Amino acid sequence: MAALAWSWRIGVSCVLVSTSLSLYLIACGDDDAAANKGDGGSDATAALTPEQMFRALQPELLARCGGPNGVCHVNGSFNQAPVWLGNPDPYVSAKAYRGILPASGDPKDSIILTQIEHTGPSLQSTPALLGKAQEWVAAELAASIRKLPAAGPVPVVEGQNTIDLSKVVPGVTDGAKLTFLGTTQNNVLTMTNLKVTAGAGSGMRMDSPFFVIVPEKGKTIADPNVNGFSGEMTVLPNETKDFYSGTMILLPFPAKTQIKVVFKKLEKPASLDGGAGGECTALGVFQSSAIPAFTASVPLVEGGTSTCVFCHGGGNETAVNAMDLTALGSDPKTACAQARNWINFSDKSKSLIILNPTGAANPNHPVQALPDNGPVVSGIRAWVDAEK
Ligand code: HEC
Repeated sequence: MAALAWSWRIGVSCVLVSTSLSLYLIACGDDDAAANKGDGGSDATAALTPEQMFRALQPELLARCGGPNGVCHVNGSFNQAPVWLGNPDPYVSAKAYRGILPASGDPKDSIILTQIEHTGPSLQSTPALLGKAQEWVAAELAASIRKLPAAGPVPVVEGQNTIDLSKVVPGVTDGAKLTFLGTTQNNVLTMTNLKVTAGAGSGMRMDSPFFVIVPEKGKTIADPNVNGFSGEMTVLPNETKDFYSGTMILLPFPAKTQIKVVFKKLEKPASLDGGAGGECTALGVFQSSAIPAFTASVPLVEGGTSTCVFCHGGGNETAVNAMDLTALGSDPKTACAQARNWINFSDKSKSLIILNPTGAANPNHPVQALPDNGPVVSGIRAWVDAEK
């Protein structure tokens, strides 16, 4: 029923507008559907599949964007127009054309919705058709790509930039940020010294982030293959790391272009889950190897000696706030889960619980650099290696 109502309305509106003149008599865009006025029919879309929604707007879209005899976006014979309503099936063509269903999963990034008037018209000049196209893109994305976690769009300045990641995934990215040095020249943005910092409350595991280019006017570009990085990366709470290669070049990048950063995945690292995921899997090795290491005497930078468990077990408030081993004697399981937060599961040799004692991480850590193969570090490492 809904489908009928939908196409009926389109039919009516086409008849109604068939007398209007279009500005695009020669170029791509056809008068028939050009001045179609909205009828607010979005309620009719509820029961339609994305394909049905497309089929309902297909005649109007073909008329508007296909050009006379399809010379524009149907067969591309006019001005080498990109073919995104191609034969044999414009639906298959539109779905497959890169950027129509943007990789970010955000309908706002779709090239057909953001395109401005070019040789042909912009959908923005036909609000009713634009509305239906928006609904189609949104429905299509909702059915296939999940809207990916993202921050922005934000403006870019020359020099130091900070992109606040706080709102990207509540509970995971609070206080997190991305920073970079931006320079623009000849419509190219060069980002260097790209770094990511996790908030104090949680680490982050990211997968294949990319930048979306959002020009002041014109097509948004959401292309992970060109403007992104691939693979996973983990940042611990409060840690700052190079963001993948640390550099990125974005173009075209005319004045007033904004950027968005999108993550294919962004979540709490399993080891920082606090829940079941945060529990130690090698409690036995923790007790037989790590606890003896934590209770062994270690030399301090300031002179004298102490033990990991003296400071982290209550002797030093800052130390406890960082890594809480107060339960070491009474509840080793809890203490182990705390220590486990400092394991880097993507590269165990880069775990802060090993790097700090060897003097290779926090420069303010009060313990003198311990030998990598000494009993303390070896004891900790045996347990780190055993954790899964
Ligand atoms: C004299 C006190 C003291 C001793 C001994 C000590 N720590 Fe720490 N540790 C600290 C303090 C203080 C911090 C917090 C540093 C900060 O916030 O910059 C800390 C932080 C850490 C962190 C969290 C990461 C970070 O840098 O914030 C780890 C992991 C850690 N210590 C491991 C160890 C291990 C393993 C030992 C034993 C080999 C040890 N610590 C011995 C005081 C101590």
